[in-house]
Amino acid sequence: MKFLAILFFISFFTACNTNTRNEYLAIAENTVNTETEIILEHPGKKLMENNCYVCHNPKTAEDAMIAPPMVAVKMHYISEETSKEEFIVAMVEWSKNPSEEKSKMPGAVKKFGLMPYQFYPEETIKQIADYMYDNDIEEPQWFDAHYKQMHGDRPQMKGRMGHGKGNGKGMGKNQNANTQLSEKERGMQMAQTTKAELGKNLMGQIQKNGVIAALDFCNIQALPITDSMAAVHKAYIRRVTDKPRNPKNKANATELQYLENFKKQVAAGGEVNPIVVAMGNETEFYNPIVTNSMCLKCHGTPGKELETLTLTKIQELYPMDKATGYGENEVRGIWSIRFKNSE
Ligand code: HEC
Ligand code: HEC
Repeated sequence: MKFLAILFFISFFTACNTNTRNEYLAIAENTVNTETEIILEHPGKKLMENNCYVCHNPKTAEDAMIAPPMVAVKMHYISEETSKEEFIVAMVEWSKNPSEEKSKMPGAVKKFGLMPYQFYPEETIKQIADYMYDNDIEEPQWFDAHYKQMHGDRPQMKGRMGHGKGNGKGMGKNQNANTQLSEKERGMQMAQTTKAELGKNLMGQIQKNGVIAALDFCNIQALPITDSMAAVHKAYIRRVTDKPRNPKNKANATELQYLENFKKQVAAGGEVNPIVVAMGNETEFYNPIVTNSMCLKCHGTPGKELETLTLTKIQELYPMDKATGYGENEVRGIWSIRFKNSE
């Protein structure tokens, strides 16, 4: 629930831009349980929790879900005949390009909107799928009843498909949802949730009203964040870049250095790890913001993906704009996040 409060908080202030008029976007501090687990885990588990639970979180109440729980995804993707290889391929395909045509969960698309595209390294998705196939996925407490009501009895499927946690463990024990997140994971979560919200609103605007309206929307949506809010919320999130559209988003010298580093890594094509810097009782977190095809409508090459009409409008709003000429899968900027460490 804490987590959702953050999401709502962010979505209230931001559309496609975190900070048109303000240097920083405050974000609610993310408290964490301190129960630690020392079990050797499948790497796919953490990857799933860090990357997918931002939206597919089994701890969220039914009426507050912003995506179906992972257990539901698993049920729609694995039948008795599905091999692990097939499942992995299907997950990779989906993550590369979520589309209505490909969806096996049209009901979810209708209810939540299409999953926003985000860049995930293929290896990450493979690990997640490998984990999902072989293991019980934690399911929400409300899920069983929901499933019976919607679909009747549960189907048989290959892979493992039990009832996850919640059985035997005493339902009241608000579960060990957040096995202590590291500072890196917290930073990642802040970046991902912000990105997810930005992406979702932006995509919705473009689909509904077109690119030009989306531009206006971005430009107007930036609300001033008052001092009182900065006092209440304890993390600072910026999107910065070497080629800013809004001059306020210009990276400083340190950020520029990290950005250059990320550019090399992304160009080389491997997995890119965030940079986490411990600063006393605070943590600084940096992670690249990578383009996909959608971004090129506003950041691509003029006359190609970036239509003349859009360009004219951009130049009206941002006479100093430098943020064009990008291709897909390029580092457009970085998240620069600073927050207090958890105890
Ligand atoms: C920003 C929120 C968000 C994040 C993060 C996210 N998803 Fe989704 N996902 C959704 C939504 C919303 C749906 C339901 C609509 C749909 O199916 O497109 C969905 C549906 C899916 C589906 C079912 C697709 C279908 O319709 O057949 C799969 C598979 C999936 N997600 C995998 C993942 C994986 C794997 C991750 C983590 C690497 C992930 N998602 C992260 C929002 C998200
Ligand atoms: C509808 C047009 C539009 C699309 C599509 C779009 N952007 Fe932007 N982008 C903008 C505008 C306008 C700004 C300036 C916002 C501001 O005033 O802070 C901006 C700013 C940014 C910034 C902050 C740095 C800067 O240059 O001011 C980043 C980073 C960024 N966009 C990345 C992306 C990525 C990544 C995508 C694709 C996922 C994307 N944008 C898609 C219009 C768009």
